[in-house]
Amino acid sequence: MSTTNYAESARLLDRAKKVLAGGVSSEFRKYNHPHALFYTHGKGSRLYDADGNEYLDFTLSQGPLILGHSHPEVVKAVSDYSQYGQLYAGQHLKEIELAEKLNAVIPSAELMRFCLDGSTAVQTAFRIARAKTGKQKFIRFEGHYHGWLDNVCWGNAAPSLSSMGDRENPTANPWCKGLAEDTKEESIVLPWNDLGLVKSVIEKRHEEIAAIITEPVMCNNNCIEPAPGFLQGLRNICDQYGIALIFDEVITGFRLSLGGAQQYFGITPDMSVFAKAMASGYPISAVVGKREWMQLLEDGTVIHAGTMNSGNATVAAALTTIQILEKEDPYKRMFELGKYFMEGLRKVAVEAGQRMLVQGPGPMFCIAITDADKINDYRGTFSCDKAKLSTFIAAMHDRKIRIIGRGLVYISAVHNRQDVEQAVAVAGDVLKRL
Ligand SMILES: Cc1ncc(COP(=O)(O)O)c(C=O)c1O
Repeated sequence: MSTTNYAESARLLDRAKKVLAGGVSSEFRKYNHPHALFYTHGKGSRLYDADGNEYLDFTLSQGPLILGHSHPEVVKAVSDYSQYGQLYAGQHLKEIELAEKLNAVIPSAELMRFCLDGSTAVQTAFRIARAKTGKQKFIRFEGHYHGWLDNVCWGNAAPSLSSMGDRENPTANPWCKGLAEDTKEESIVLPWNDLGLVKSVIEKRHEEIAAIITEPVMCNNNCIEPAPGFLQGLRNICDQYGIALIFDEVITGFRLSLGGAQQYFGITPDMSVFAKAMASGYPISAVVGKREWMQLLEDGTVIHAGTMNSGNATVAAALTTIQILEKEDPYKRMFELGKYFMEGLRKVAVEAGQRMLVQGPGPMFCIAITDADKINDYRGTFSCDKAKLSTFIAAMHDRKIRIIGRGLVYISAVHNRQDVEQAVAVAGDVLKRL
């Protein structure tokens, strides 16, 4: 039973539900503990709700807040640049500066376009891949998330292991009702981290396949790292058959390194998508890639558009965020802090006699309750006790430690060892009572 007071949020949720469907503006916000909550402000690693509760925040608003809440330089840059205007239906100087910056720091970013979010940027990459290859389908992997638009909502989740069919010939489950049925045919869904299977499907069906899209680390389910050689194997097979390799770096971008997972793993995709940590919570994303692919946008062979794209506020937020990351270079610290956190959790879990698996590279990692030593793909996640994990996350929340409901933890450049020690101490206590 929670002793934390959520009464004001409950009252606001009742009011919101009368006019906002489910009281929220994004599905995932419903699943907070004990219900969708309302927040008043955030500063650094702390977030404050309408009941005055102060949380040590490891959700970072689902990833974007790599510099913590309300970073003063970002807020100032947005405010300063907004004094000049908001949106011109035209170009402006900082837009070039931002593109030049991405070009300098991301290995594959020879040409790019800005969008508003990850979902639309992913669709832009598909359109380019189809136009250049003259083929229609893309390979996507079970449990990876590439946004909420219809064609990527087959196979991202499944109600049970048995619903997924054979590994060699998976069933693509729809994420929800209402998807256009024919969008199911756009993708071939395969288990992740199984290069042999990808190769055998491509050998048979390469004449249909325009692209492979992958999260370079499978952050959306258990933070699974690529098996040794897997990403290189995808690169090789895409080169062999003229297929576009698309990295969805919406989470890994600016998080594993300034140049994203492609720099961290040393594998250069043809196109990739960046969003979340790019702009400290402002709505901007980028689809970037090698010139030979992206140039299809130059003459309108492929059309990408958007009234709200690259407005002053979002461009200023992105440019300033990336400049700060470049200047402060927090990556070594974020890796060390994440690893320290992971080791601390493993230790208190053993002490409490709980079977906890903590895996991931460090700047992000995932907590699971399972006997497994390692989870390698989405099918493996069904060994986890998700109900017990929810109880753990809820109890942590009642003790003011905020972690994403599926066990994902994000480290920011402003978290420190004391924050981690505080969270580990609370986790130890919670685990003993679980
Ligand atoms: C890997 C990945 N790709 C794409 C998206 C979609 O991005 P957005 O929510 O900005 O549309 C997400 C969102 O969580 C994501 O995690």
